Amino acid sequence: MQLFAERFREGRVAALDISAKAIEALKARFAESDLKNMVTTYEADVLKMPLEDATFDLAWSSHTMHIFVDPVAGVCELARVVMPGGRVAIRKVAYSGRLLPLDIGIGEPGIESRIQAAFTKWFVADRFKRGRVPFGWPRVLMNAGLREIEVILFFFQVSTPFSAMQTEYLRKSLRGKADLEHLDASEKATLLRITEPGTPDDALARDDLHFTDIATVFVGRV
Ligand SMILES: C[S@@+](CC[C@H](N)C(=O)[O-])C[C@H]1O[C@@H](n2cnc3c(N)ncnc32)[C@H](O)[C@@H]1O
Repeated sequence: MQLFAERFREGRVAALDISAKAIEALKARFAESDLKNMVTTYEADVLKMPLEDATFDLAWSSHTMHIFVDPVAGVCELARVVMPGGRVAIRKVAYSGRLLPLDIGIGEPGIESRIQAAFTKWFVADRFKRGRVPFGWPRVLMNAGLREIEVILFFFQVSTPFSAMQTEYLRKSLRGKADLEHLDASEKATLLRITEPGTPDDALARDDLHFTDIATVFVGRV
């Protein structure tokens, strides 16, 4: 949202999430900024948005449409608020970011591959519990009536030294993986050990890290 607000200073941004916590975090981010006057926040369901038809040039949804048993309904609702000729963009994490060297010198080498496997196991079970969606995202966009479908890849990489904000984000994200249901107790212990700040094993204090991340954005025209 911040990037949109910064980029389109003459425009208007409506930011929506169903979680009060997410909206509060967003508001806090804009509280001290002159951008706050152009951003309106809504604590609401994206499947029933409190927004007029055909109002926006772009509807952007980041890593949320996969939650719905009927993602076509979600994309249709996004398309509803976009003007004819405008676009709907759906961001998906294409690959779980990698940060650590294969061998961090603690625990078994290759912990990030096992984290990824544990995440996939949880995600697939959670997804199927709610119903199956046997479609790729271009098909979801087409079924929602969008045209001129494009698939755009965004590659992000950063090496140490990280900024304080990057370190905080990466630490929180790595440490959070210790909650994964399908991860072994020994792997969880390793994760907690290497993400404890100010200790000799703190991985985020290393000067040889390289973070890579890839996101895919599926775009269609209304
Ligand atoms: C994986 S997080 C992604 C958060 C953020 N969009 C991002 O890309 O970092 C999924 C978000 O979807 C929100 N969400 C889940 N169901 C929703 C719904 N029905 N309407 C609006 N937001 C919803 C959650 O509250 C959560 O913030």
